[in-house]
Amino acid sequence: MSGKTPIAILISGRGSNMSVLVEASRAADCPYEVVLVASNNPDAPGLTIAREAGIATFAHSHKGLSRDAFDAIIDKALRDAGVRYVALAGYMRILSEDFVAGWTGRMLNIHPSLLPKYKGLDTHARAIAAGDAEGGCSVHIVTATLDDGEVVGQARVPILPGDTPETLADRVLAEEHRLYPAALADYIRTHG
Ligand code: GRF
Repeated sequence: MSGKTPIAILISGRGSNMSVLVEASRAADCPYEVVLVASNNPDAPGLTIAREAGIATFAHSHKGLSRDAFDAIIDKALRDAGVRYVALAGYMRILSEDFVAGWTGRMLNIHPSLLPKYKGLDTHARAIAAGDAEGGCSVHIVTATLDDGEVVGQARVPILPGDTPETLADRVLAEEHRLYPAALADYIRTHG
C-alpha cells in the first residue's frame, strides 16, 4: 500500500499522455498511483507501454456492444481495481450518461485546444484555419456533454507562420505532457 490515491487511465491509442502520468506517479510527492490502464482497443500501442511499465491493463473491444453495455464493462473493471479517479488520455469514446454520472467530479480529460474553443476533433486544423495566434491544451472535468466540463488547467503555445496541423500538434503535445500530470495532481490534492 503506497497511501496514494488509486487512479485508472483510459486510452484508445498511442498513450503518450498515459506514459507521462505513470512516470509522474512514481515521484514520492505525487498524490496518485496508476492501478489500471484500460482500453476499448485491444491493439492500442499504449497498452504495451503500460504493461512494460508494470501497470495492470484491461482491454475490451466496444465492437458489437451497445454504449451502455460497453461502459458497464469498463465501469466494473475500474471498480474491481479500487479506482478513485479516472484520467481519460486519448480515449476516443463518447461516454454514456450513466458512466459519467458514476464518476461525477472524479473523471478528467485532456483536450488539445484552448477550451471552450474547438471541442471535438481536428482542433489544430481548426485553430490554424481561424487564424488564431495561439493554440494549446486544456484539462477539464468530464461531464455528459463532450469536452464541456469545468477547465482545471490550460497551457498555451504560439501558432507560427507555416504551421501545419502536425507541427502545431507536436508543439501542443509537449505542453500536454507537462500540464496533465501537474493538473491531475493539483486536482487530487484539492479534492482528496
Ligand atoms: C492527445 O492530443 C490528447 O489531447 C487527445 O488525444 C491525444 C492522445 O495522445 N485527447 P496520446 O495517446 O496521449 O499520445
